[in-house]
Amino acid sequence: MNEVTKQLTERKSVRVFTDQKIDEATVEEILTCSAQAPTAGNQQLYSIIRINNSDLKEKLSVVCDHQPFIAEGKLVLVYCADCLKWHDAFRENGCEPRDPGEGDLILAIDDALIAAQNAVTAAWSLGIGSCYIGDIMENCEEVRSLLKLPEYVFPAALLVFGYPTEQQKERIKPKRAELRYIVSEDSYHRLNKEELKQMLLKNCSEETYDGWIAAFCKRKYNSDFSREMTRSVREYLKQFKDRKSE
Ligand SMILES: Cc1cc2nc3c(=O)[nH]c(=O)nc-3n(C[C@H](O)[C@H](O)[C@H](O)COP(=O)(O)O)c2cc1C
Repeated sequence: MNEVTKQLTERKSVRVFTDQKIDEATVEEILTCSAQAPTAGNQQLYSIIRINNSDLKEKLSVVCDHQPFIAEGKLVLVYCADCLKWHDAFRENGCEPRDPGEGDLILAIDDALIAAQNAVTAAWSLGIGSCYIGDIMENCEEVRSLLKLPEYVFPAALLVFGYPTEQQKERIKPKRAELRYIVSEDSYHRLNKEELKQMLLKNCSEETYDGWIAAFCKRKYNSDFSREMTRSVREYLKQFKDRKSE
């Protein structure tokens, strides 16, 4: 492995940080790498909101399903899928753009997440850990109001950064599924019951598979937070309805 592939393989989420601050030159390096990510048509269909205010970090840690470590982040970035800025540029120049549609939103989410992952990788190479917070997609009314998000701007991911504690450095990275279960050739391969079991067995070393998968479904998939995420995303999507996006 070369240094890049080694780091990509070793990177893991970090949720406990030392008190060490991240200096501004380093923050700028991370943001610069993020902005160098590929984007659709080089449009950079995202905006990054850097959260400096500690009250705001606290509030976000609550609305993002009560995850206090968000408030401990030394750098907190919200990656927004931004369908507004190009639309504004088109409108202000009399181009008569159609309204943004769901396809534009998904393309902008692609851009935002690819840029976010560049930040994660750059930070890791500089000894800084990070964690994605998908729960930024929940409680859209509060998130929209806290971050003053206008229409057509969707918070795709929140990233928390900081230097990892020794315990976090030692923490064993969760195992991944074997490639044969996630890569198929030329067409989609739907996994059968046994293949799904074989793929997921690595996750339940101390329980039976049946007990583990039932508990996981209850805790993650059927959970209140995941239902809230769908409600929230539906709310966001309403702005795309009944507009002239075709
Ligand atoms: C889209 C996305 C959302 C996530 N949301 C959360 C979150 O809200 N809280 C959290 O602690 N970790 C979150 N994570 C981190 C995952 O739990 C983590 O990446 C996964 O368990 C694999 O572990 P690893 O990153 O250490 O390899 C999220 C990761 C992604 C990609």
